[in-house]
Amino acid sequence: MNAVVFDRFGEPDQVLSVRDVPIPEPGPGEVRVRMIASPVNPSDLLVVRGLYGVLPKLPATPGFEGVGVVDKVGGGLLGWLVKGKRVTVINGAGGNWAEYVVIPAKQARPVKADIPDEQVASFFVNPVTVLAMVRKILKVPQGQWLLQTAAGSELGKMVIRLAKHDGIKTINVVRRRDAMDELKTLGGDAVISTEDGPIEDQVRKIVGGDGVRYALDPVGGDTGTGAFNSLASEGRLIVYGTLTGEPIRIDSRRMIAGKRVVEGFWLGYWMKERSIPESLRIFHEVGNLIRANVLSTEVGKKFPITQIIDAVHEAERPGRKGKVLLDLTKQS
Ligand SMILES: NC(=O)c1ccc[n+]([C@@H]2O[C@H](COP(=O)([O-])OP(=O)(O)OC[C@H]3O[C@@H](n4cnc5c(N)ncnc54)[C@H](OP(=O)(O)O)[C@@H]3O)[C@@H](O)[C@H]2O)c1
Repeated sequence: MNAVVFDRFGEPDQVLSVRDVPIPEPGPGEVRVRMIASPVNPSDLLVVRGLYGVLPKLPATPGFEGVGVVDKVGGGLLGWLVKGKRVTVINGAGGNWAEYVVIPAKQARPVKADIPDEQVASFFVNPVTVLAMVRKILKVPQGQWLLQTAAGSELGKMVIRLAKHDGIKTINVVRRRDAMDELKTLGGDAVISTEDGPIEDQVRKIVGGDGVRYALDPVGGDTGTGAFNSLASEGRLIVYGTLTGEPIRIDSRRMIAGKRVVEGFWLGYWMKERSIPESLRIFHEVGNLIRANVLSTEVGKKFPITQIIDAVHEAERPGRKGKVLLDLTKQS
């Protein structure tokens, strides 16, 4: 079968290649999935660059999520229950950018047929992160302001739609003025650009008082620092990404005086702490919100596995529209 492989960490276009490798065999408690599609997410590329929190042994194949059909069971009741079913392929170890992948049976979650393959491919990473941060951790009350940076990301657009759905007001920070109109149309209550001056000044003009109680930042550097500086007393900032690779500068006095909190979020870690019934409820909630077009993903260009370098370039192109998908059913 074809698989995307890298045997050293580095720039994706220099270290990724497509290789002919043996089709893997599932062991006890595992299933094999014939893959249909897998998105190119920022976390996949952080792994390739050697910058992710947990790194695989090399050589490795990237790909944390995707959609496919369970075609072989290595033993165990759970595996037989999903045999032949279309599943969302949750693969914390990575490996989905291949025609077949073996995963623990419990990570192959069937999704009802009314949700299309393209949405099942991105069922987990972004939708569950948004649900977790907005509804489960911050529990942003109706009518409150929620500030978010990198608001034009696929995840950021889900935040806007979920906030609208839940009666929360959003202030959305983008790095390009030309990205502002789209987010206003999508329902962002306020949209600001880092091209127009410090985030905290723009935020206080919008909300008045000493700032916002709730904020999300995947950018870091000056943008993340601006998000922290926009917090009101008792404000909470969730940091969930490192798009600039630069640290956030925290003014300790500001943090102490107003009891402001900065906390990290990592989906893999958060899910490990959920019980099985709780994670089933989360999946049910996400499915319904995808059906309602709230946590759905805008799909961008699709590439066959053999064009992985083009896929990566497209995924990282500033201003790119929609999530890039690897179509794993096609060779070229
Ligand atoms: N912690 C977790 O468990 C977790 C889970 C899911 C996602 N995430 C993180 O969530 C973030 C968004 O993911 P996604 O899949 O929605 O990404 P995406 O659709 O690929 O979008 C990336 C966005 O980031 C913006 N961006 C890229 N580099 C930037 C920079 N240096 N400064 C400011 N903005 C920048 C881009 O802006 P332009 O539109 O201007 O190009 C684009 O809007 C990523 O950082 C990802 O790692 C974290």
